[in-house]
This record gives sequence, structure tokens and C-alpha cells, in this order.
Amino acid sequence: MNIAIIGSGYVGLVSGACFAELGNRVICVDNDAKKITALKKGVIPIYEPGLRELITINMKKKRLKFTTSIKEAVSSSQIIFIAVGTPSKAGGEADLTGIENVARNIAKNIFGYRLIVEKSTVPVETGEWVKHTIATYKKNKAKFDVASNPEFLREGQAINDFMHPDRIVIGVESKKAKELLIGLYGPLNAPIVVTDIKSAELIKHASNSFLAAKISFINALSVICEKTGADVIQVARGMGLDKRIGQSFLKAGIGYGGSCFPKDVDAFITISERIGYSFEMLKAVKKINQQQQEYFLNKIKNLLWIIKDKRIAVLGLSFKPNTDDIRNAPAIEIVKALQEEGAVIRAYDPQAMERAKKVLKGVNFCADPYLACKGSDCLLLMTEWDEFKELDFSKIRKLMHRPLLVDGRNIYKADQLKKAGFKYSAIGTGGSGK
Ligand code: UGA
Repeated sequence: MNIAIIGSGYVGLVSGACFAELGNRVICVDNDAKKITALKKGVIPIYEPGLRELITINMKKKRLKFTTSIKEAVSSSQIIFIAVGTPSKAGGEADLTGIENVARNIAKNIFGYRLIVEKSTVPVETGEWVKHTIATYKKNKAKFDVASNPEFLREGQAINDFMHPDRIVIGVESKKAKELLIGLYGPLNAPIVVTDIKSAELIKHASNSFLAAKISFINALSVICEKTGADVIQVARGMGLDKRIGQSFLKAGIGYGGSCFPKDVDAFITISERIGYSFEMLKAVKKINQQQQEYFLNKIKNLLWIIKDKRIAVLGLSFKPNTDDIRNAPAIEIVKALQEEGAVIRAYDPQAMERAKKVLKGVNFCADPYLACKGSDCLLLMTEWDEFKELDFSKIRKLMHRPLLVDGRNIYKADQLKKAGFKYSAIGTGGSGK
């Protein structure tokens, strides 16, 4: 099939590359001319395992190309995905100006039947607005359908998630749209859930909010565990083995971050408010997530007493491993809060340092984890990159000024760290480190 993807950000690029890999001819669009020029040369603006290879190979096979022209994309494609950003406005509401802009542009360039598919995460009823906008600005009688096809891929494992999804959700209101999308996704052999457009839109916000709720639930439990001496890892395992609950997304830590959960929880709270429902549970999910960072900071203060002039080593800056994304990363917020109290920060991250340098001033970015630990009074593990699981702690012990480790992701074993001479404190696992 001939497909256009408008918006070459995370979701757009991964979807475009994967659709091409499945044998379709894909044209990816972005209004950022610099980004498109770079992509044409094979320079990928984000770090995502396997993405560069997939883009390069499909460009060579002439199944994937890039343009800044919506006109070119719309004229050559039967299915047009909208994958532009929907950032949060100040009050938490999703900013849909990008979507409206693209819809108007599509309308101007549509001359035969086209299926326009929302892939961006959008509030319920956006599909109706897209349909209305295209109908209003279209200059001829060309027929079109609108559909919703939310994406559930995770950063860091995006290609695998796209190619092997748990389910594909398509919200449609015509047989033709349904057949086109089922045909497109057929090769993935995944269960396809066909719904109306509004339900599909809601499935996305509901799924992300539910996952965020699972994380906030386990984070709240980690506080109870810490106060009682219970172990949140064991509690999560004991709960998660119940198939109705499941093991995933029950890892306590320093809170969820990224470009999706914080934004989508905010947007869902706002939409609910607008339609007359106060979603108290989601408000609590958000509040617990904020508190988790505060607990972590207090934990550090309880261990160090005075933060001013303490040298603190930070391992991990991205919001989770295998990505260079630092949007809403708890690590970044925690570093800023420590700096405000006068801490001297030495940090290392395998991929996110270039991005972090743009938002963190006065941090000493180090070439490896050991350099970050040199002379420090405390080591903070913020992101659970695999390479941090393999560190030589007897070496770190000698490098540090004071052997104190605060593990924000519960990746280490308390007894091993204690044996290596560390004071060790984690999240809700009883070890206070004192
Ligand atoms: C999330 C969803 O998982 C995807 O299904 C969805 O497509 C995507 O948002 C989106 O809407 O685009 P992502 O933000 O890439 O994906 O990352 P996740 O792996 O879900 O992690 C989100 C945050 O939750 C991270 O900060 C992570 O550290 C945290 N987390 C996750 C925990 O603190 N505990 C857990 O048990 C799991």
C-alpha cells in the first residue's frame, strides 16, 4: 500500500519504518526541514535500538522516503496517518493545534478517496473534529474517511512492540476504512480490536492512565513497606502472580516519566473535567507520582543530613533505559532539586547526556560511571540501564569519598552491596541505609 505518515517524531518514524519493512511504500513528512534533510542522509534524530538500520535498509529498497510537503504525501498515498505531537498546555489539556493544522493541509490537497488515520494520542472526540475540519476546508467532492488507530509502542523497544503488538486497535465508521486497515495490519498476525472512533480514542488514554495507576499504586505501597519494614519487591511478586493483576508495571521507583504517561494522565483528567466528571482516582495517580520524587529527595537528605557542597554521583538521566529521552525524566527533576540545595553533581548516562546538557547547567558530565563516582559522598541510581547492573562495586567503593548508594530503581541486592562495604538504601525494601 502507499502510506503517508505526517509527523516524523517517535511514533511517526517508528511506524513509517515498520510499515515500510512490511513491504509498503511509505512517505514520512515533517515540517522541520532540518530534520527531513538529516533523515534523507540517514541521520536519525532519536536513539532507538534498531531504528537507524531499519530506516537505512528501507530507504535503500526505495520503500521509505522523507519530505516536508504534505501535498506530495497526500497525492501519492491512500492511507494518511497523523502522528504529530499533542503536547500539554499549561492547564494539562492536550494542545491539538498541530492536528488541526495537518487536517486543514490534508483537506487542501485531497483529490480522490483518502483514509485519514489518527495515530497521535488524542482526546476522545478529536476524530469528529478532524472529519469536520477536512469537510469544511476541502475544495472538491473527494470522498474520505477518518479512523483512529492508537499506537502502544514503548520507547526503547519500539520496533519490537510495533511488530509484535498485544493488540491492534482500529476505530472506524465505514467498511472501506475497516478493510483497508485490516489489510494493512494483516501481516502482523495480531488480534485486531475493531471499534467506533471514540472508543478507540478512549482505549489509548485509558490504557496509559491504567498503567500509570499501576505504577502509582506500587509506589504508594513502597512507602507503606518502608514504614513497616516490609519488602515491596516481594509484595509486588506476591500480587503479580495472580493472573488478574499481572507482574508488569509493578516496579516501584522514583516515579513514571517520559512524554506519554504524565501528559496523558493530565489530558485525561482535563477531558473528564470538561465532560462533567471529576476523575479523582487519576488525580491521586498524578499526586502520588509527584510525591515519589519528594520521598526520594527526603531519603537522600535523611542519609546525608546537609546537601550543600556534597558531591553526588548520578547514574542514569533518561526517563527509562534504552532511550536518550529526558522528557519529564524524574532524574532530571531530582538533579535540579539537589542543585538548588547546593549539591555538586557528577553524572553519567549511556545515551542521554547530550540532551541533558541542554537542560542541566553546572553538572559535571562524566565519560563513564566510575568517573562520576570519583570523590562522591553519595551515589544515586536513577535509571536502570543494563550496564549499571554490571558495575565493579569494590572499585567504586575505593573511588567514593563515602560509600553510600541510594538505589532509585531497586536493581541491586542489599546484602551484596553491604558486603562490598556500602550503606545501601532502596525504594520500599526495608533497607534504610543507616
Ligand atoms: C508508554 C506505554 O507503555 C506505551 O504502551 C505507549 O504507547 C506509550 O507510553 C505512548 O503513549 O506513546 P513509554 O512512555 O515509552 O510507553 O515507557 P514505559 O515503558 O511505559 O515507561 C513509562 C515510565 O514508567 C518510565 O518512567 C518507567 O521508568 C516507569 N515505570 C514503568 C515504572 O516506574 N515502573 C514500572 O513498573 C514500569
